[in-house]
Amino acid sequence: MGDHVLMSFGSCGDCDHCKSEEPAYCTTFREINFPGERAGGPAIHQDGAPIGSNFFHQSSFATLALAQRRNVVKIDKDLPLDVLAPLGCGIQTGVGAVLNAIRPQAGDSFVVFGAGSVGLSSVMGAAIAGCSNICAVDLAENRLALARELGATHAFRGDDPDLVEKLREASGGGYHCGLDTTGIPAVVDTASQALRKRGMLALVAAPAPGTRYSVEARYMVGAGLSWRGVIEGDSNPPDFIPELIEYYRKGQLPVEKIIAHYPFEQINEAIHAMEDGSVVNPVLRMMQD
Ligand SMILES: NC(=O)c1ccc[n+]([C@@H]2O[C@H](COP(=O)([O-])OP(=O)(O)OC[C@H]3O[C@@H](n4cnc5c(N)ncnc54)[C@H](O)[C@@H]3O)[C@@H](O)[C@H]2O)c1
Repeated sequence: MGDHVLMSFGSCGDCDHCKSEEPAYCTTFREINFPGERAGGPAIHQDGAPIGSNFFHQSSFATLALAQRRNVVKIDKDLPLDVLAPLGCGIQTGVGAVLNAIRPQAGDSFVVFGAGSVGLSSVMGAAIAGCSNICAVDLAENRLALARELGATHAFRGDDPDLVEKLREASGGGYHCGLDTTGIPAVVDTASQALRKRGMLALVAAPAPGTRYSVEARYMVGAGLSWRGVIEGDSNPPDFIPELIEYYRKGQLPVEKIIAHYPFEQINEAIHAMEDGSVVNPVLRMMQD
């Protein structure tokens, strides 16, 4: 009773991937995390009408939430819950894509396309990994400035017509590794061309069903490139969230710089700020009954 927990995604615990501590690849990940209701139907009603909930097997937008043992992680009581709440999705996805999936060597170069919650977290992850050249590409100047504050050594606008040439020059012939968070096929093509031979590009975005990525086959093979899809930064939350908290305690993961707090009553303002790009990660504070 009274423990403090952070919440993350759900997983079944029984499939091969869960048993291998790869719950982000749980065979029923989609069915558990995305239906917007609990097995058996909606869990919450107002005036008789069903209300969507249970995203990630726990969301409620209420002061109480139903969660499972597998998607809560107990944390120390001195830690600020309202700062660390977003660790369980976008932040672990960005940091984990770098530290768990790409695994760059210290001194490698890294480029991220899209400097939102996931992309900016990957910048922090690349700094933790010791990457020497960290580049962020976005259309929004405020996000490029934030990327620099978080450790990016270079920042470019995504609509620069000479982007590939500029990236190849800034990295001395191409980046060792990169991450696409935009889900835009043309950006994935650009990102692939910005890598050096044997480079790896991680892909995390969730674009519309049917979206296809492509790159010239001759270039892909000739350059020995790899593409790697990544869910939730390959995280096993009970292991990775405590690791993220250690980085936070050491000042290596200043997540407070990408968060803005809103009282719950201002949920619409929070959504607008997220949509217009002025805020990266809005966090709603609820009054406890
Ligand atoms: N794989 C996973 O487990 C996982 C987890 C969390 C989020 N996601 C997905 O990752 C994606 C990114 O999430 P987010 O929260 O960071 O989103 P976000 O909207 O905060 O960030 C996306 C960024 O891309 C930028 N952008 C748009 N067009 C661009 C272009 N042409 N060139 C460069 N930058 C461009 C936007 O300005 C924005 O800053 C989403 O699709 C989200 O659904 C996946």
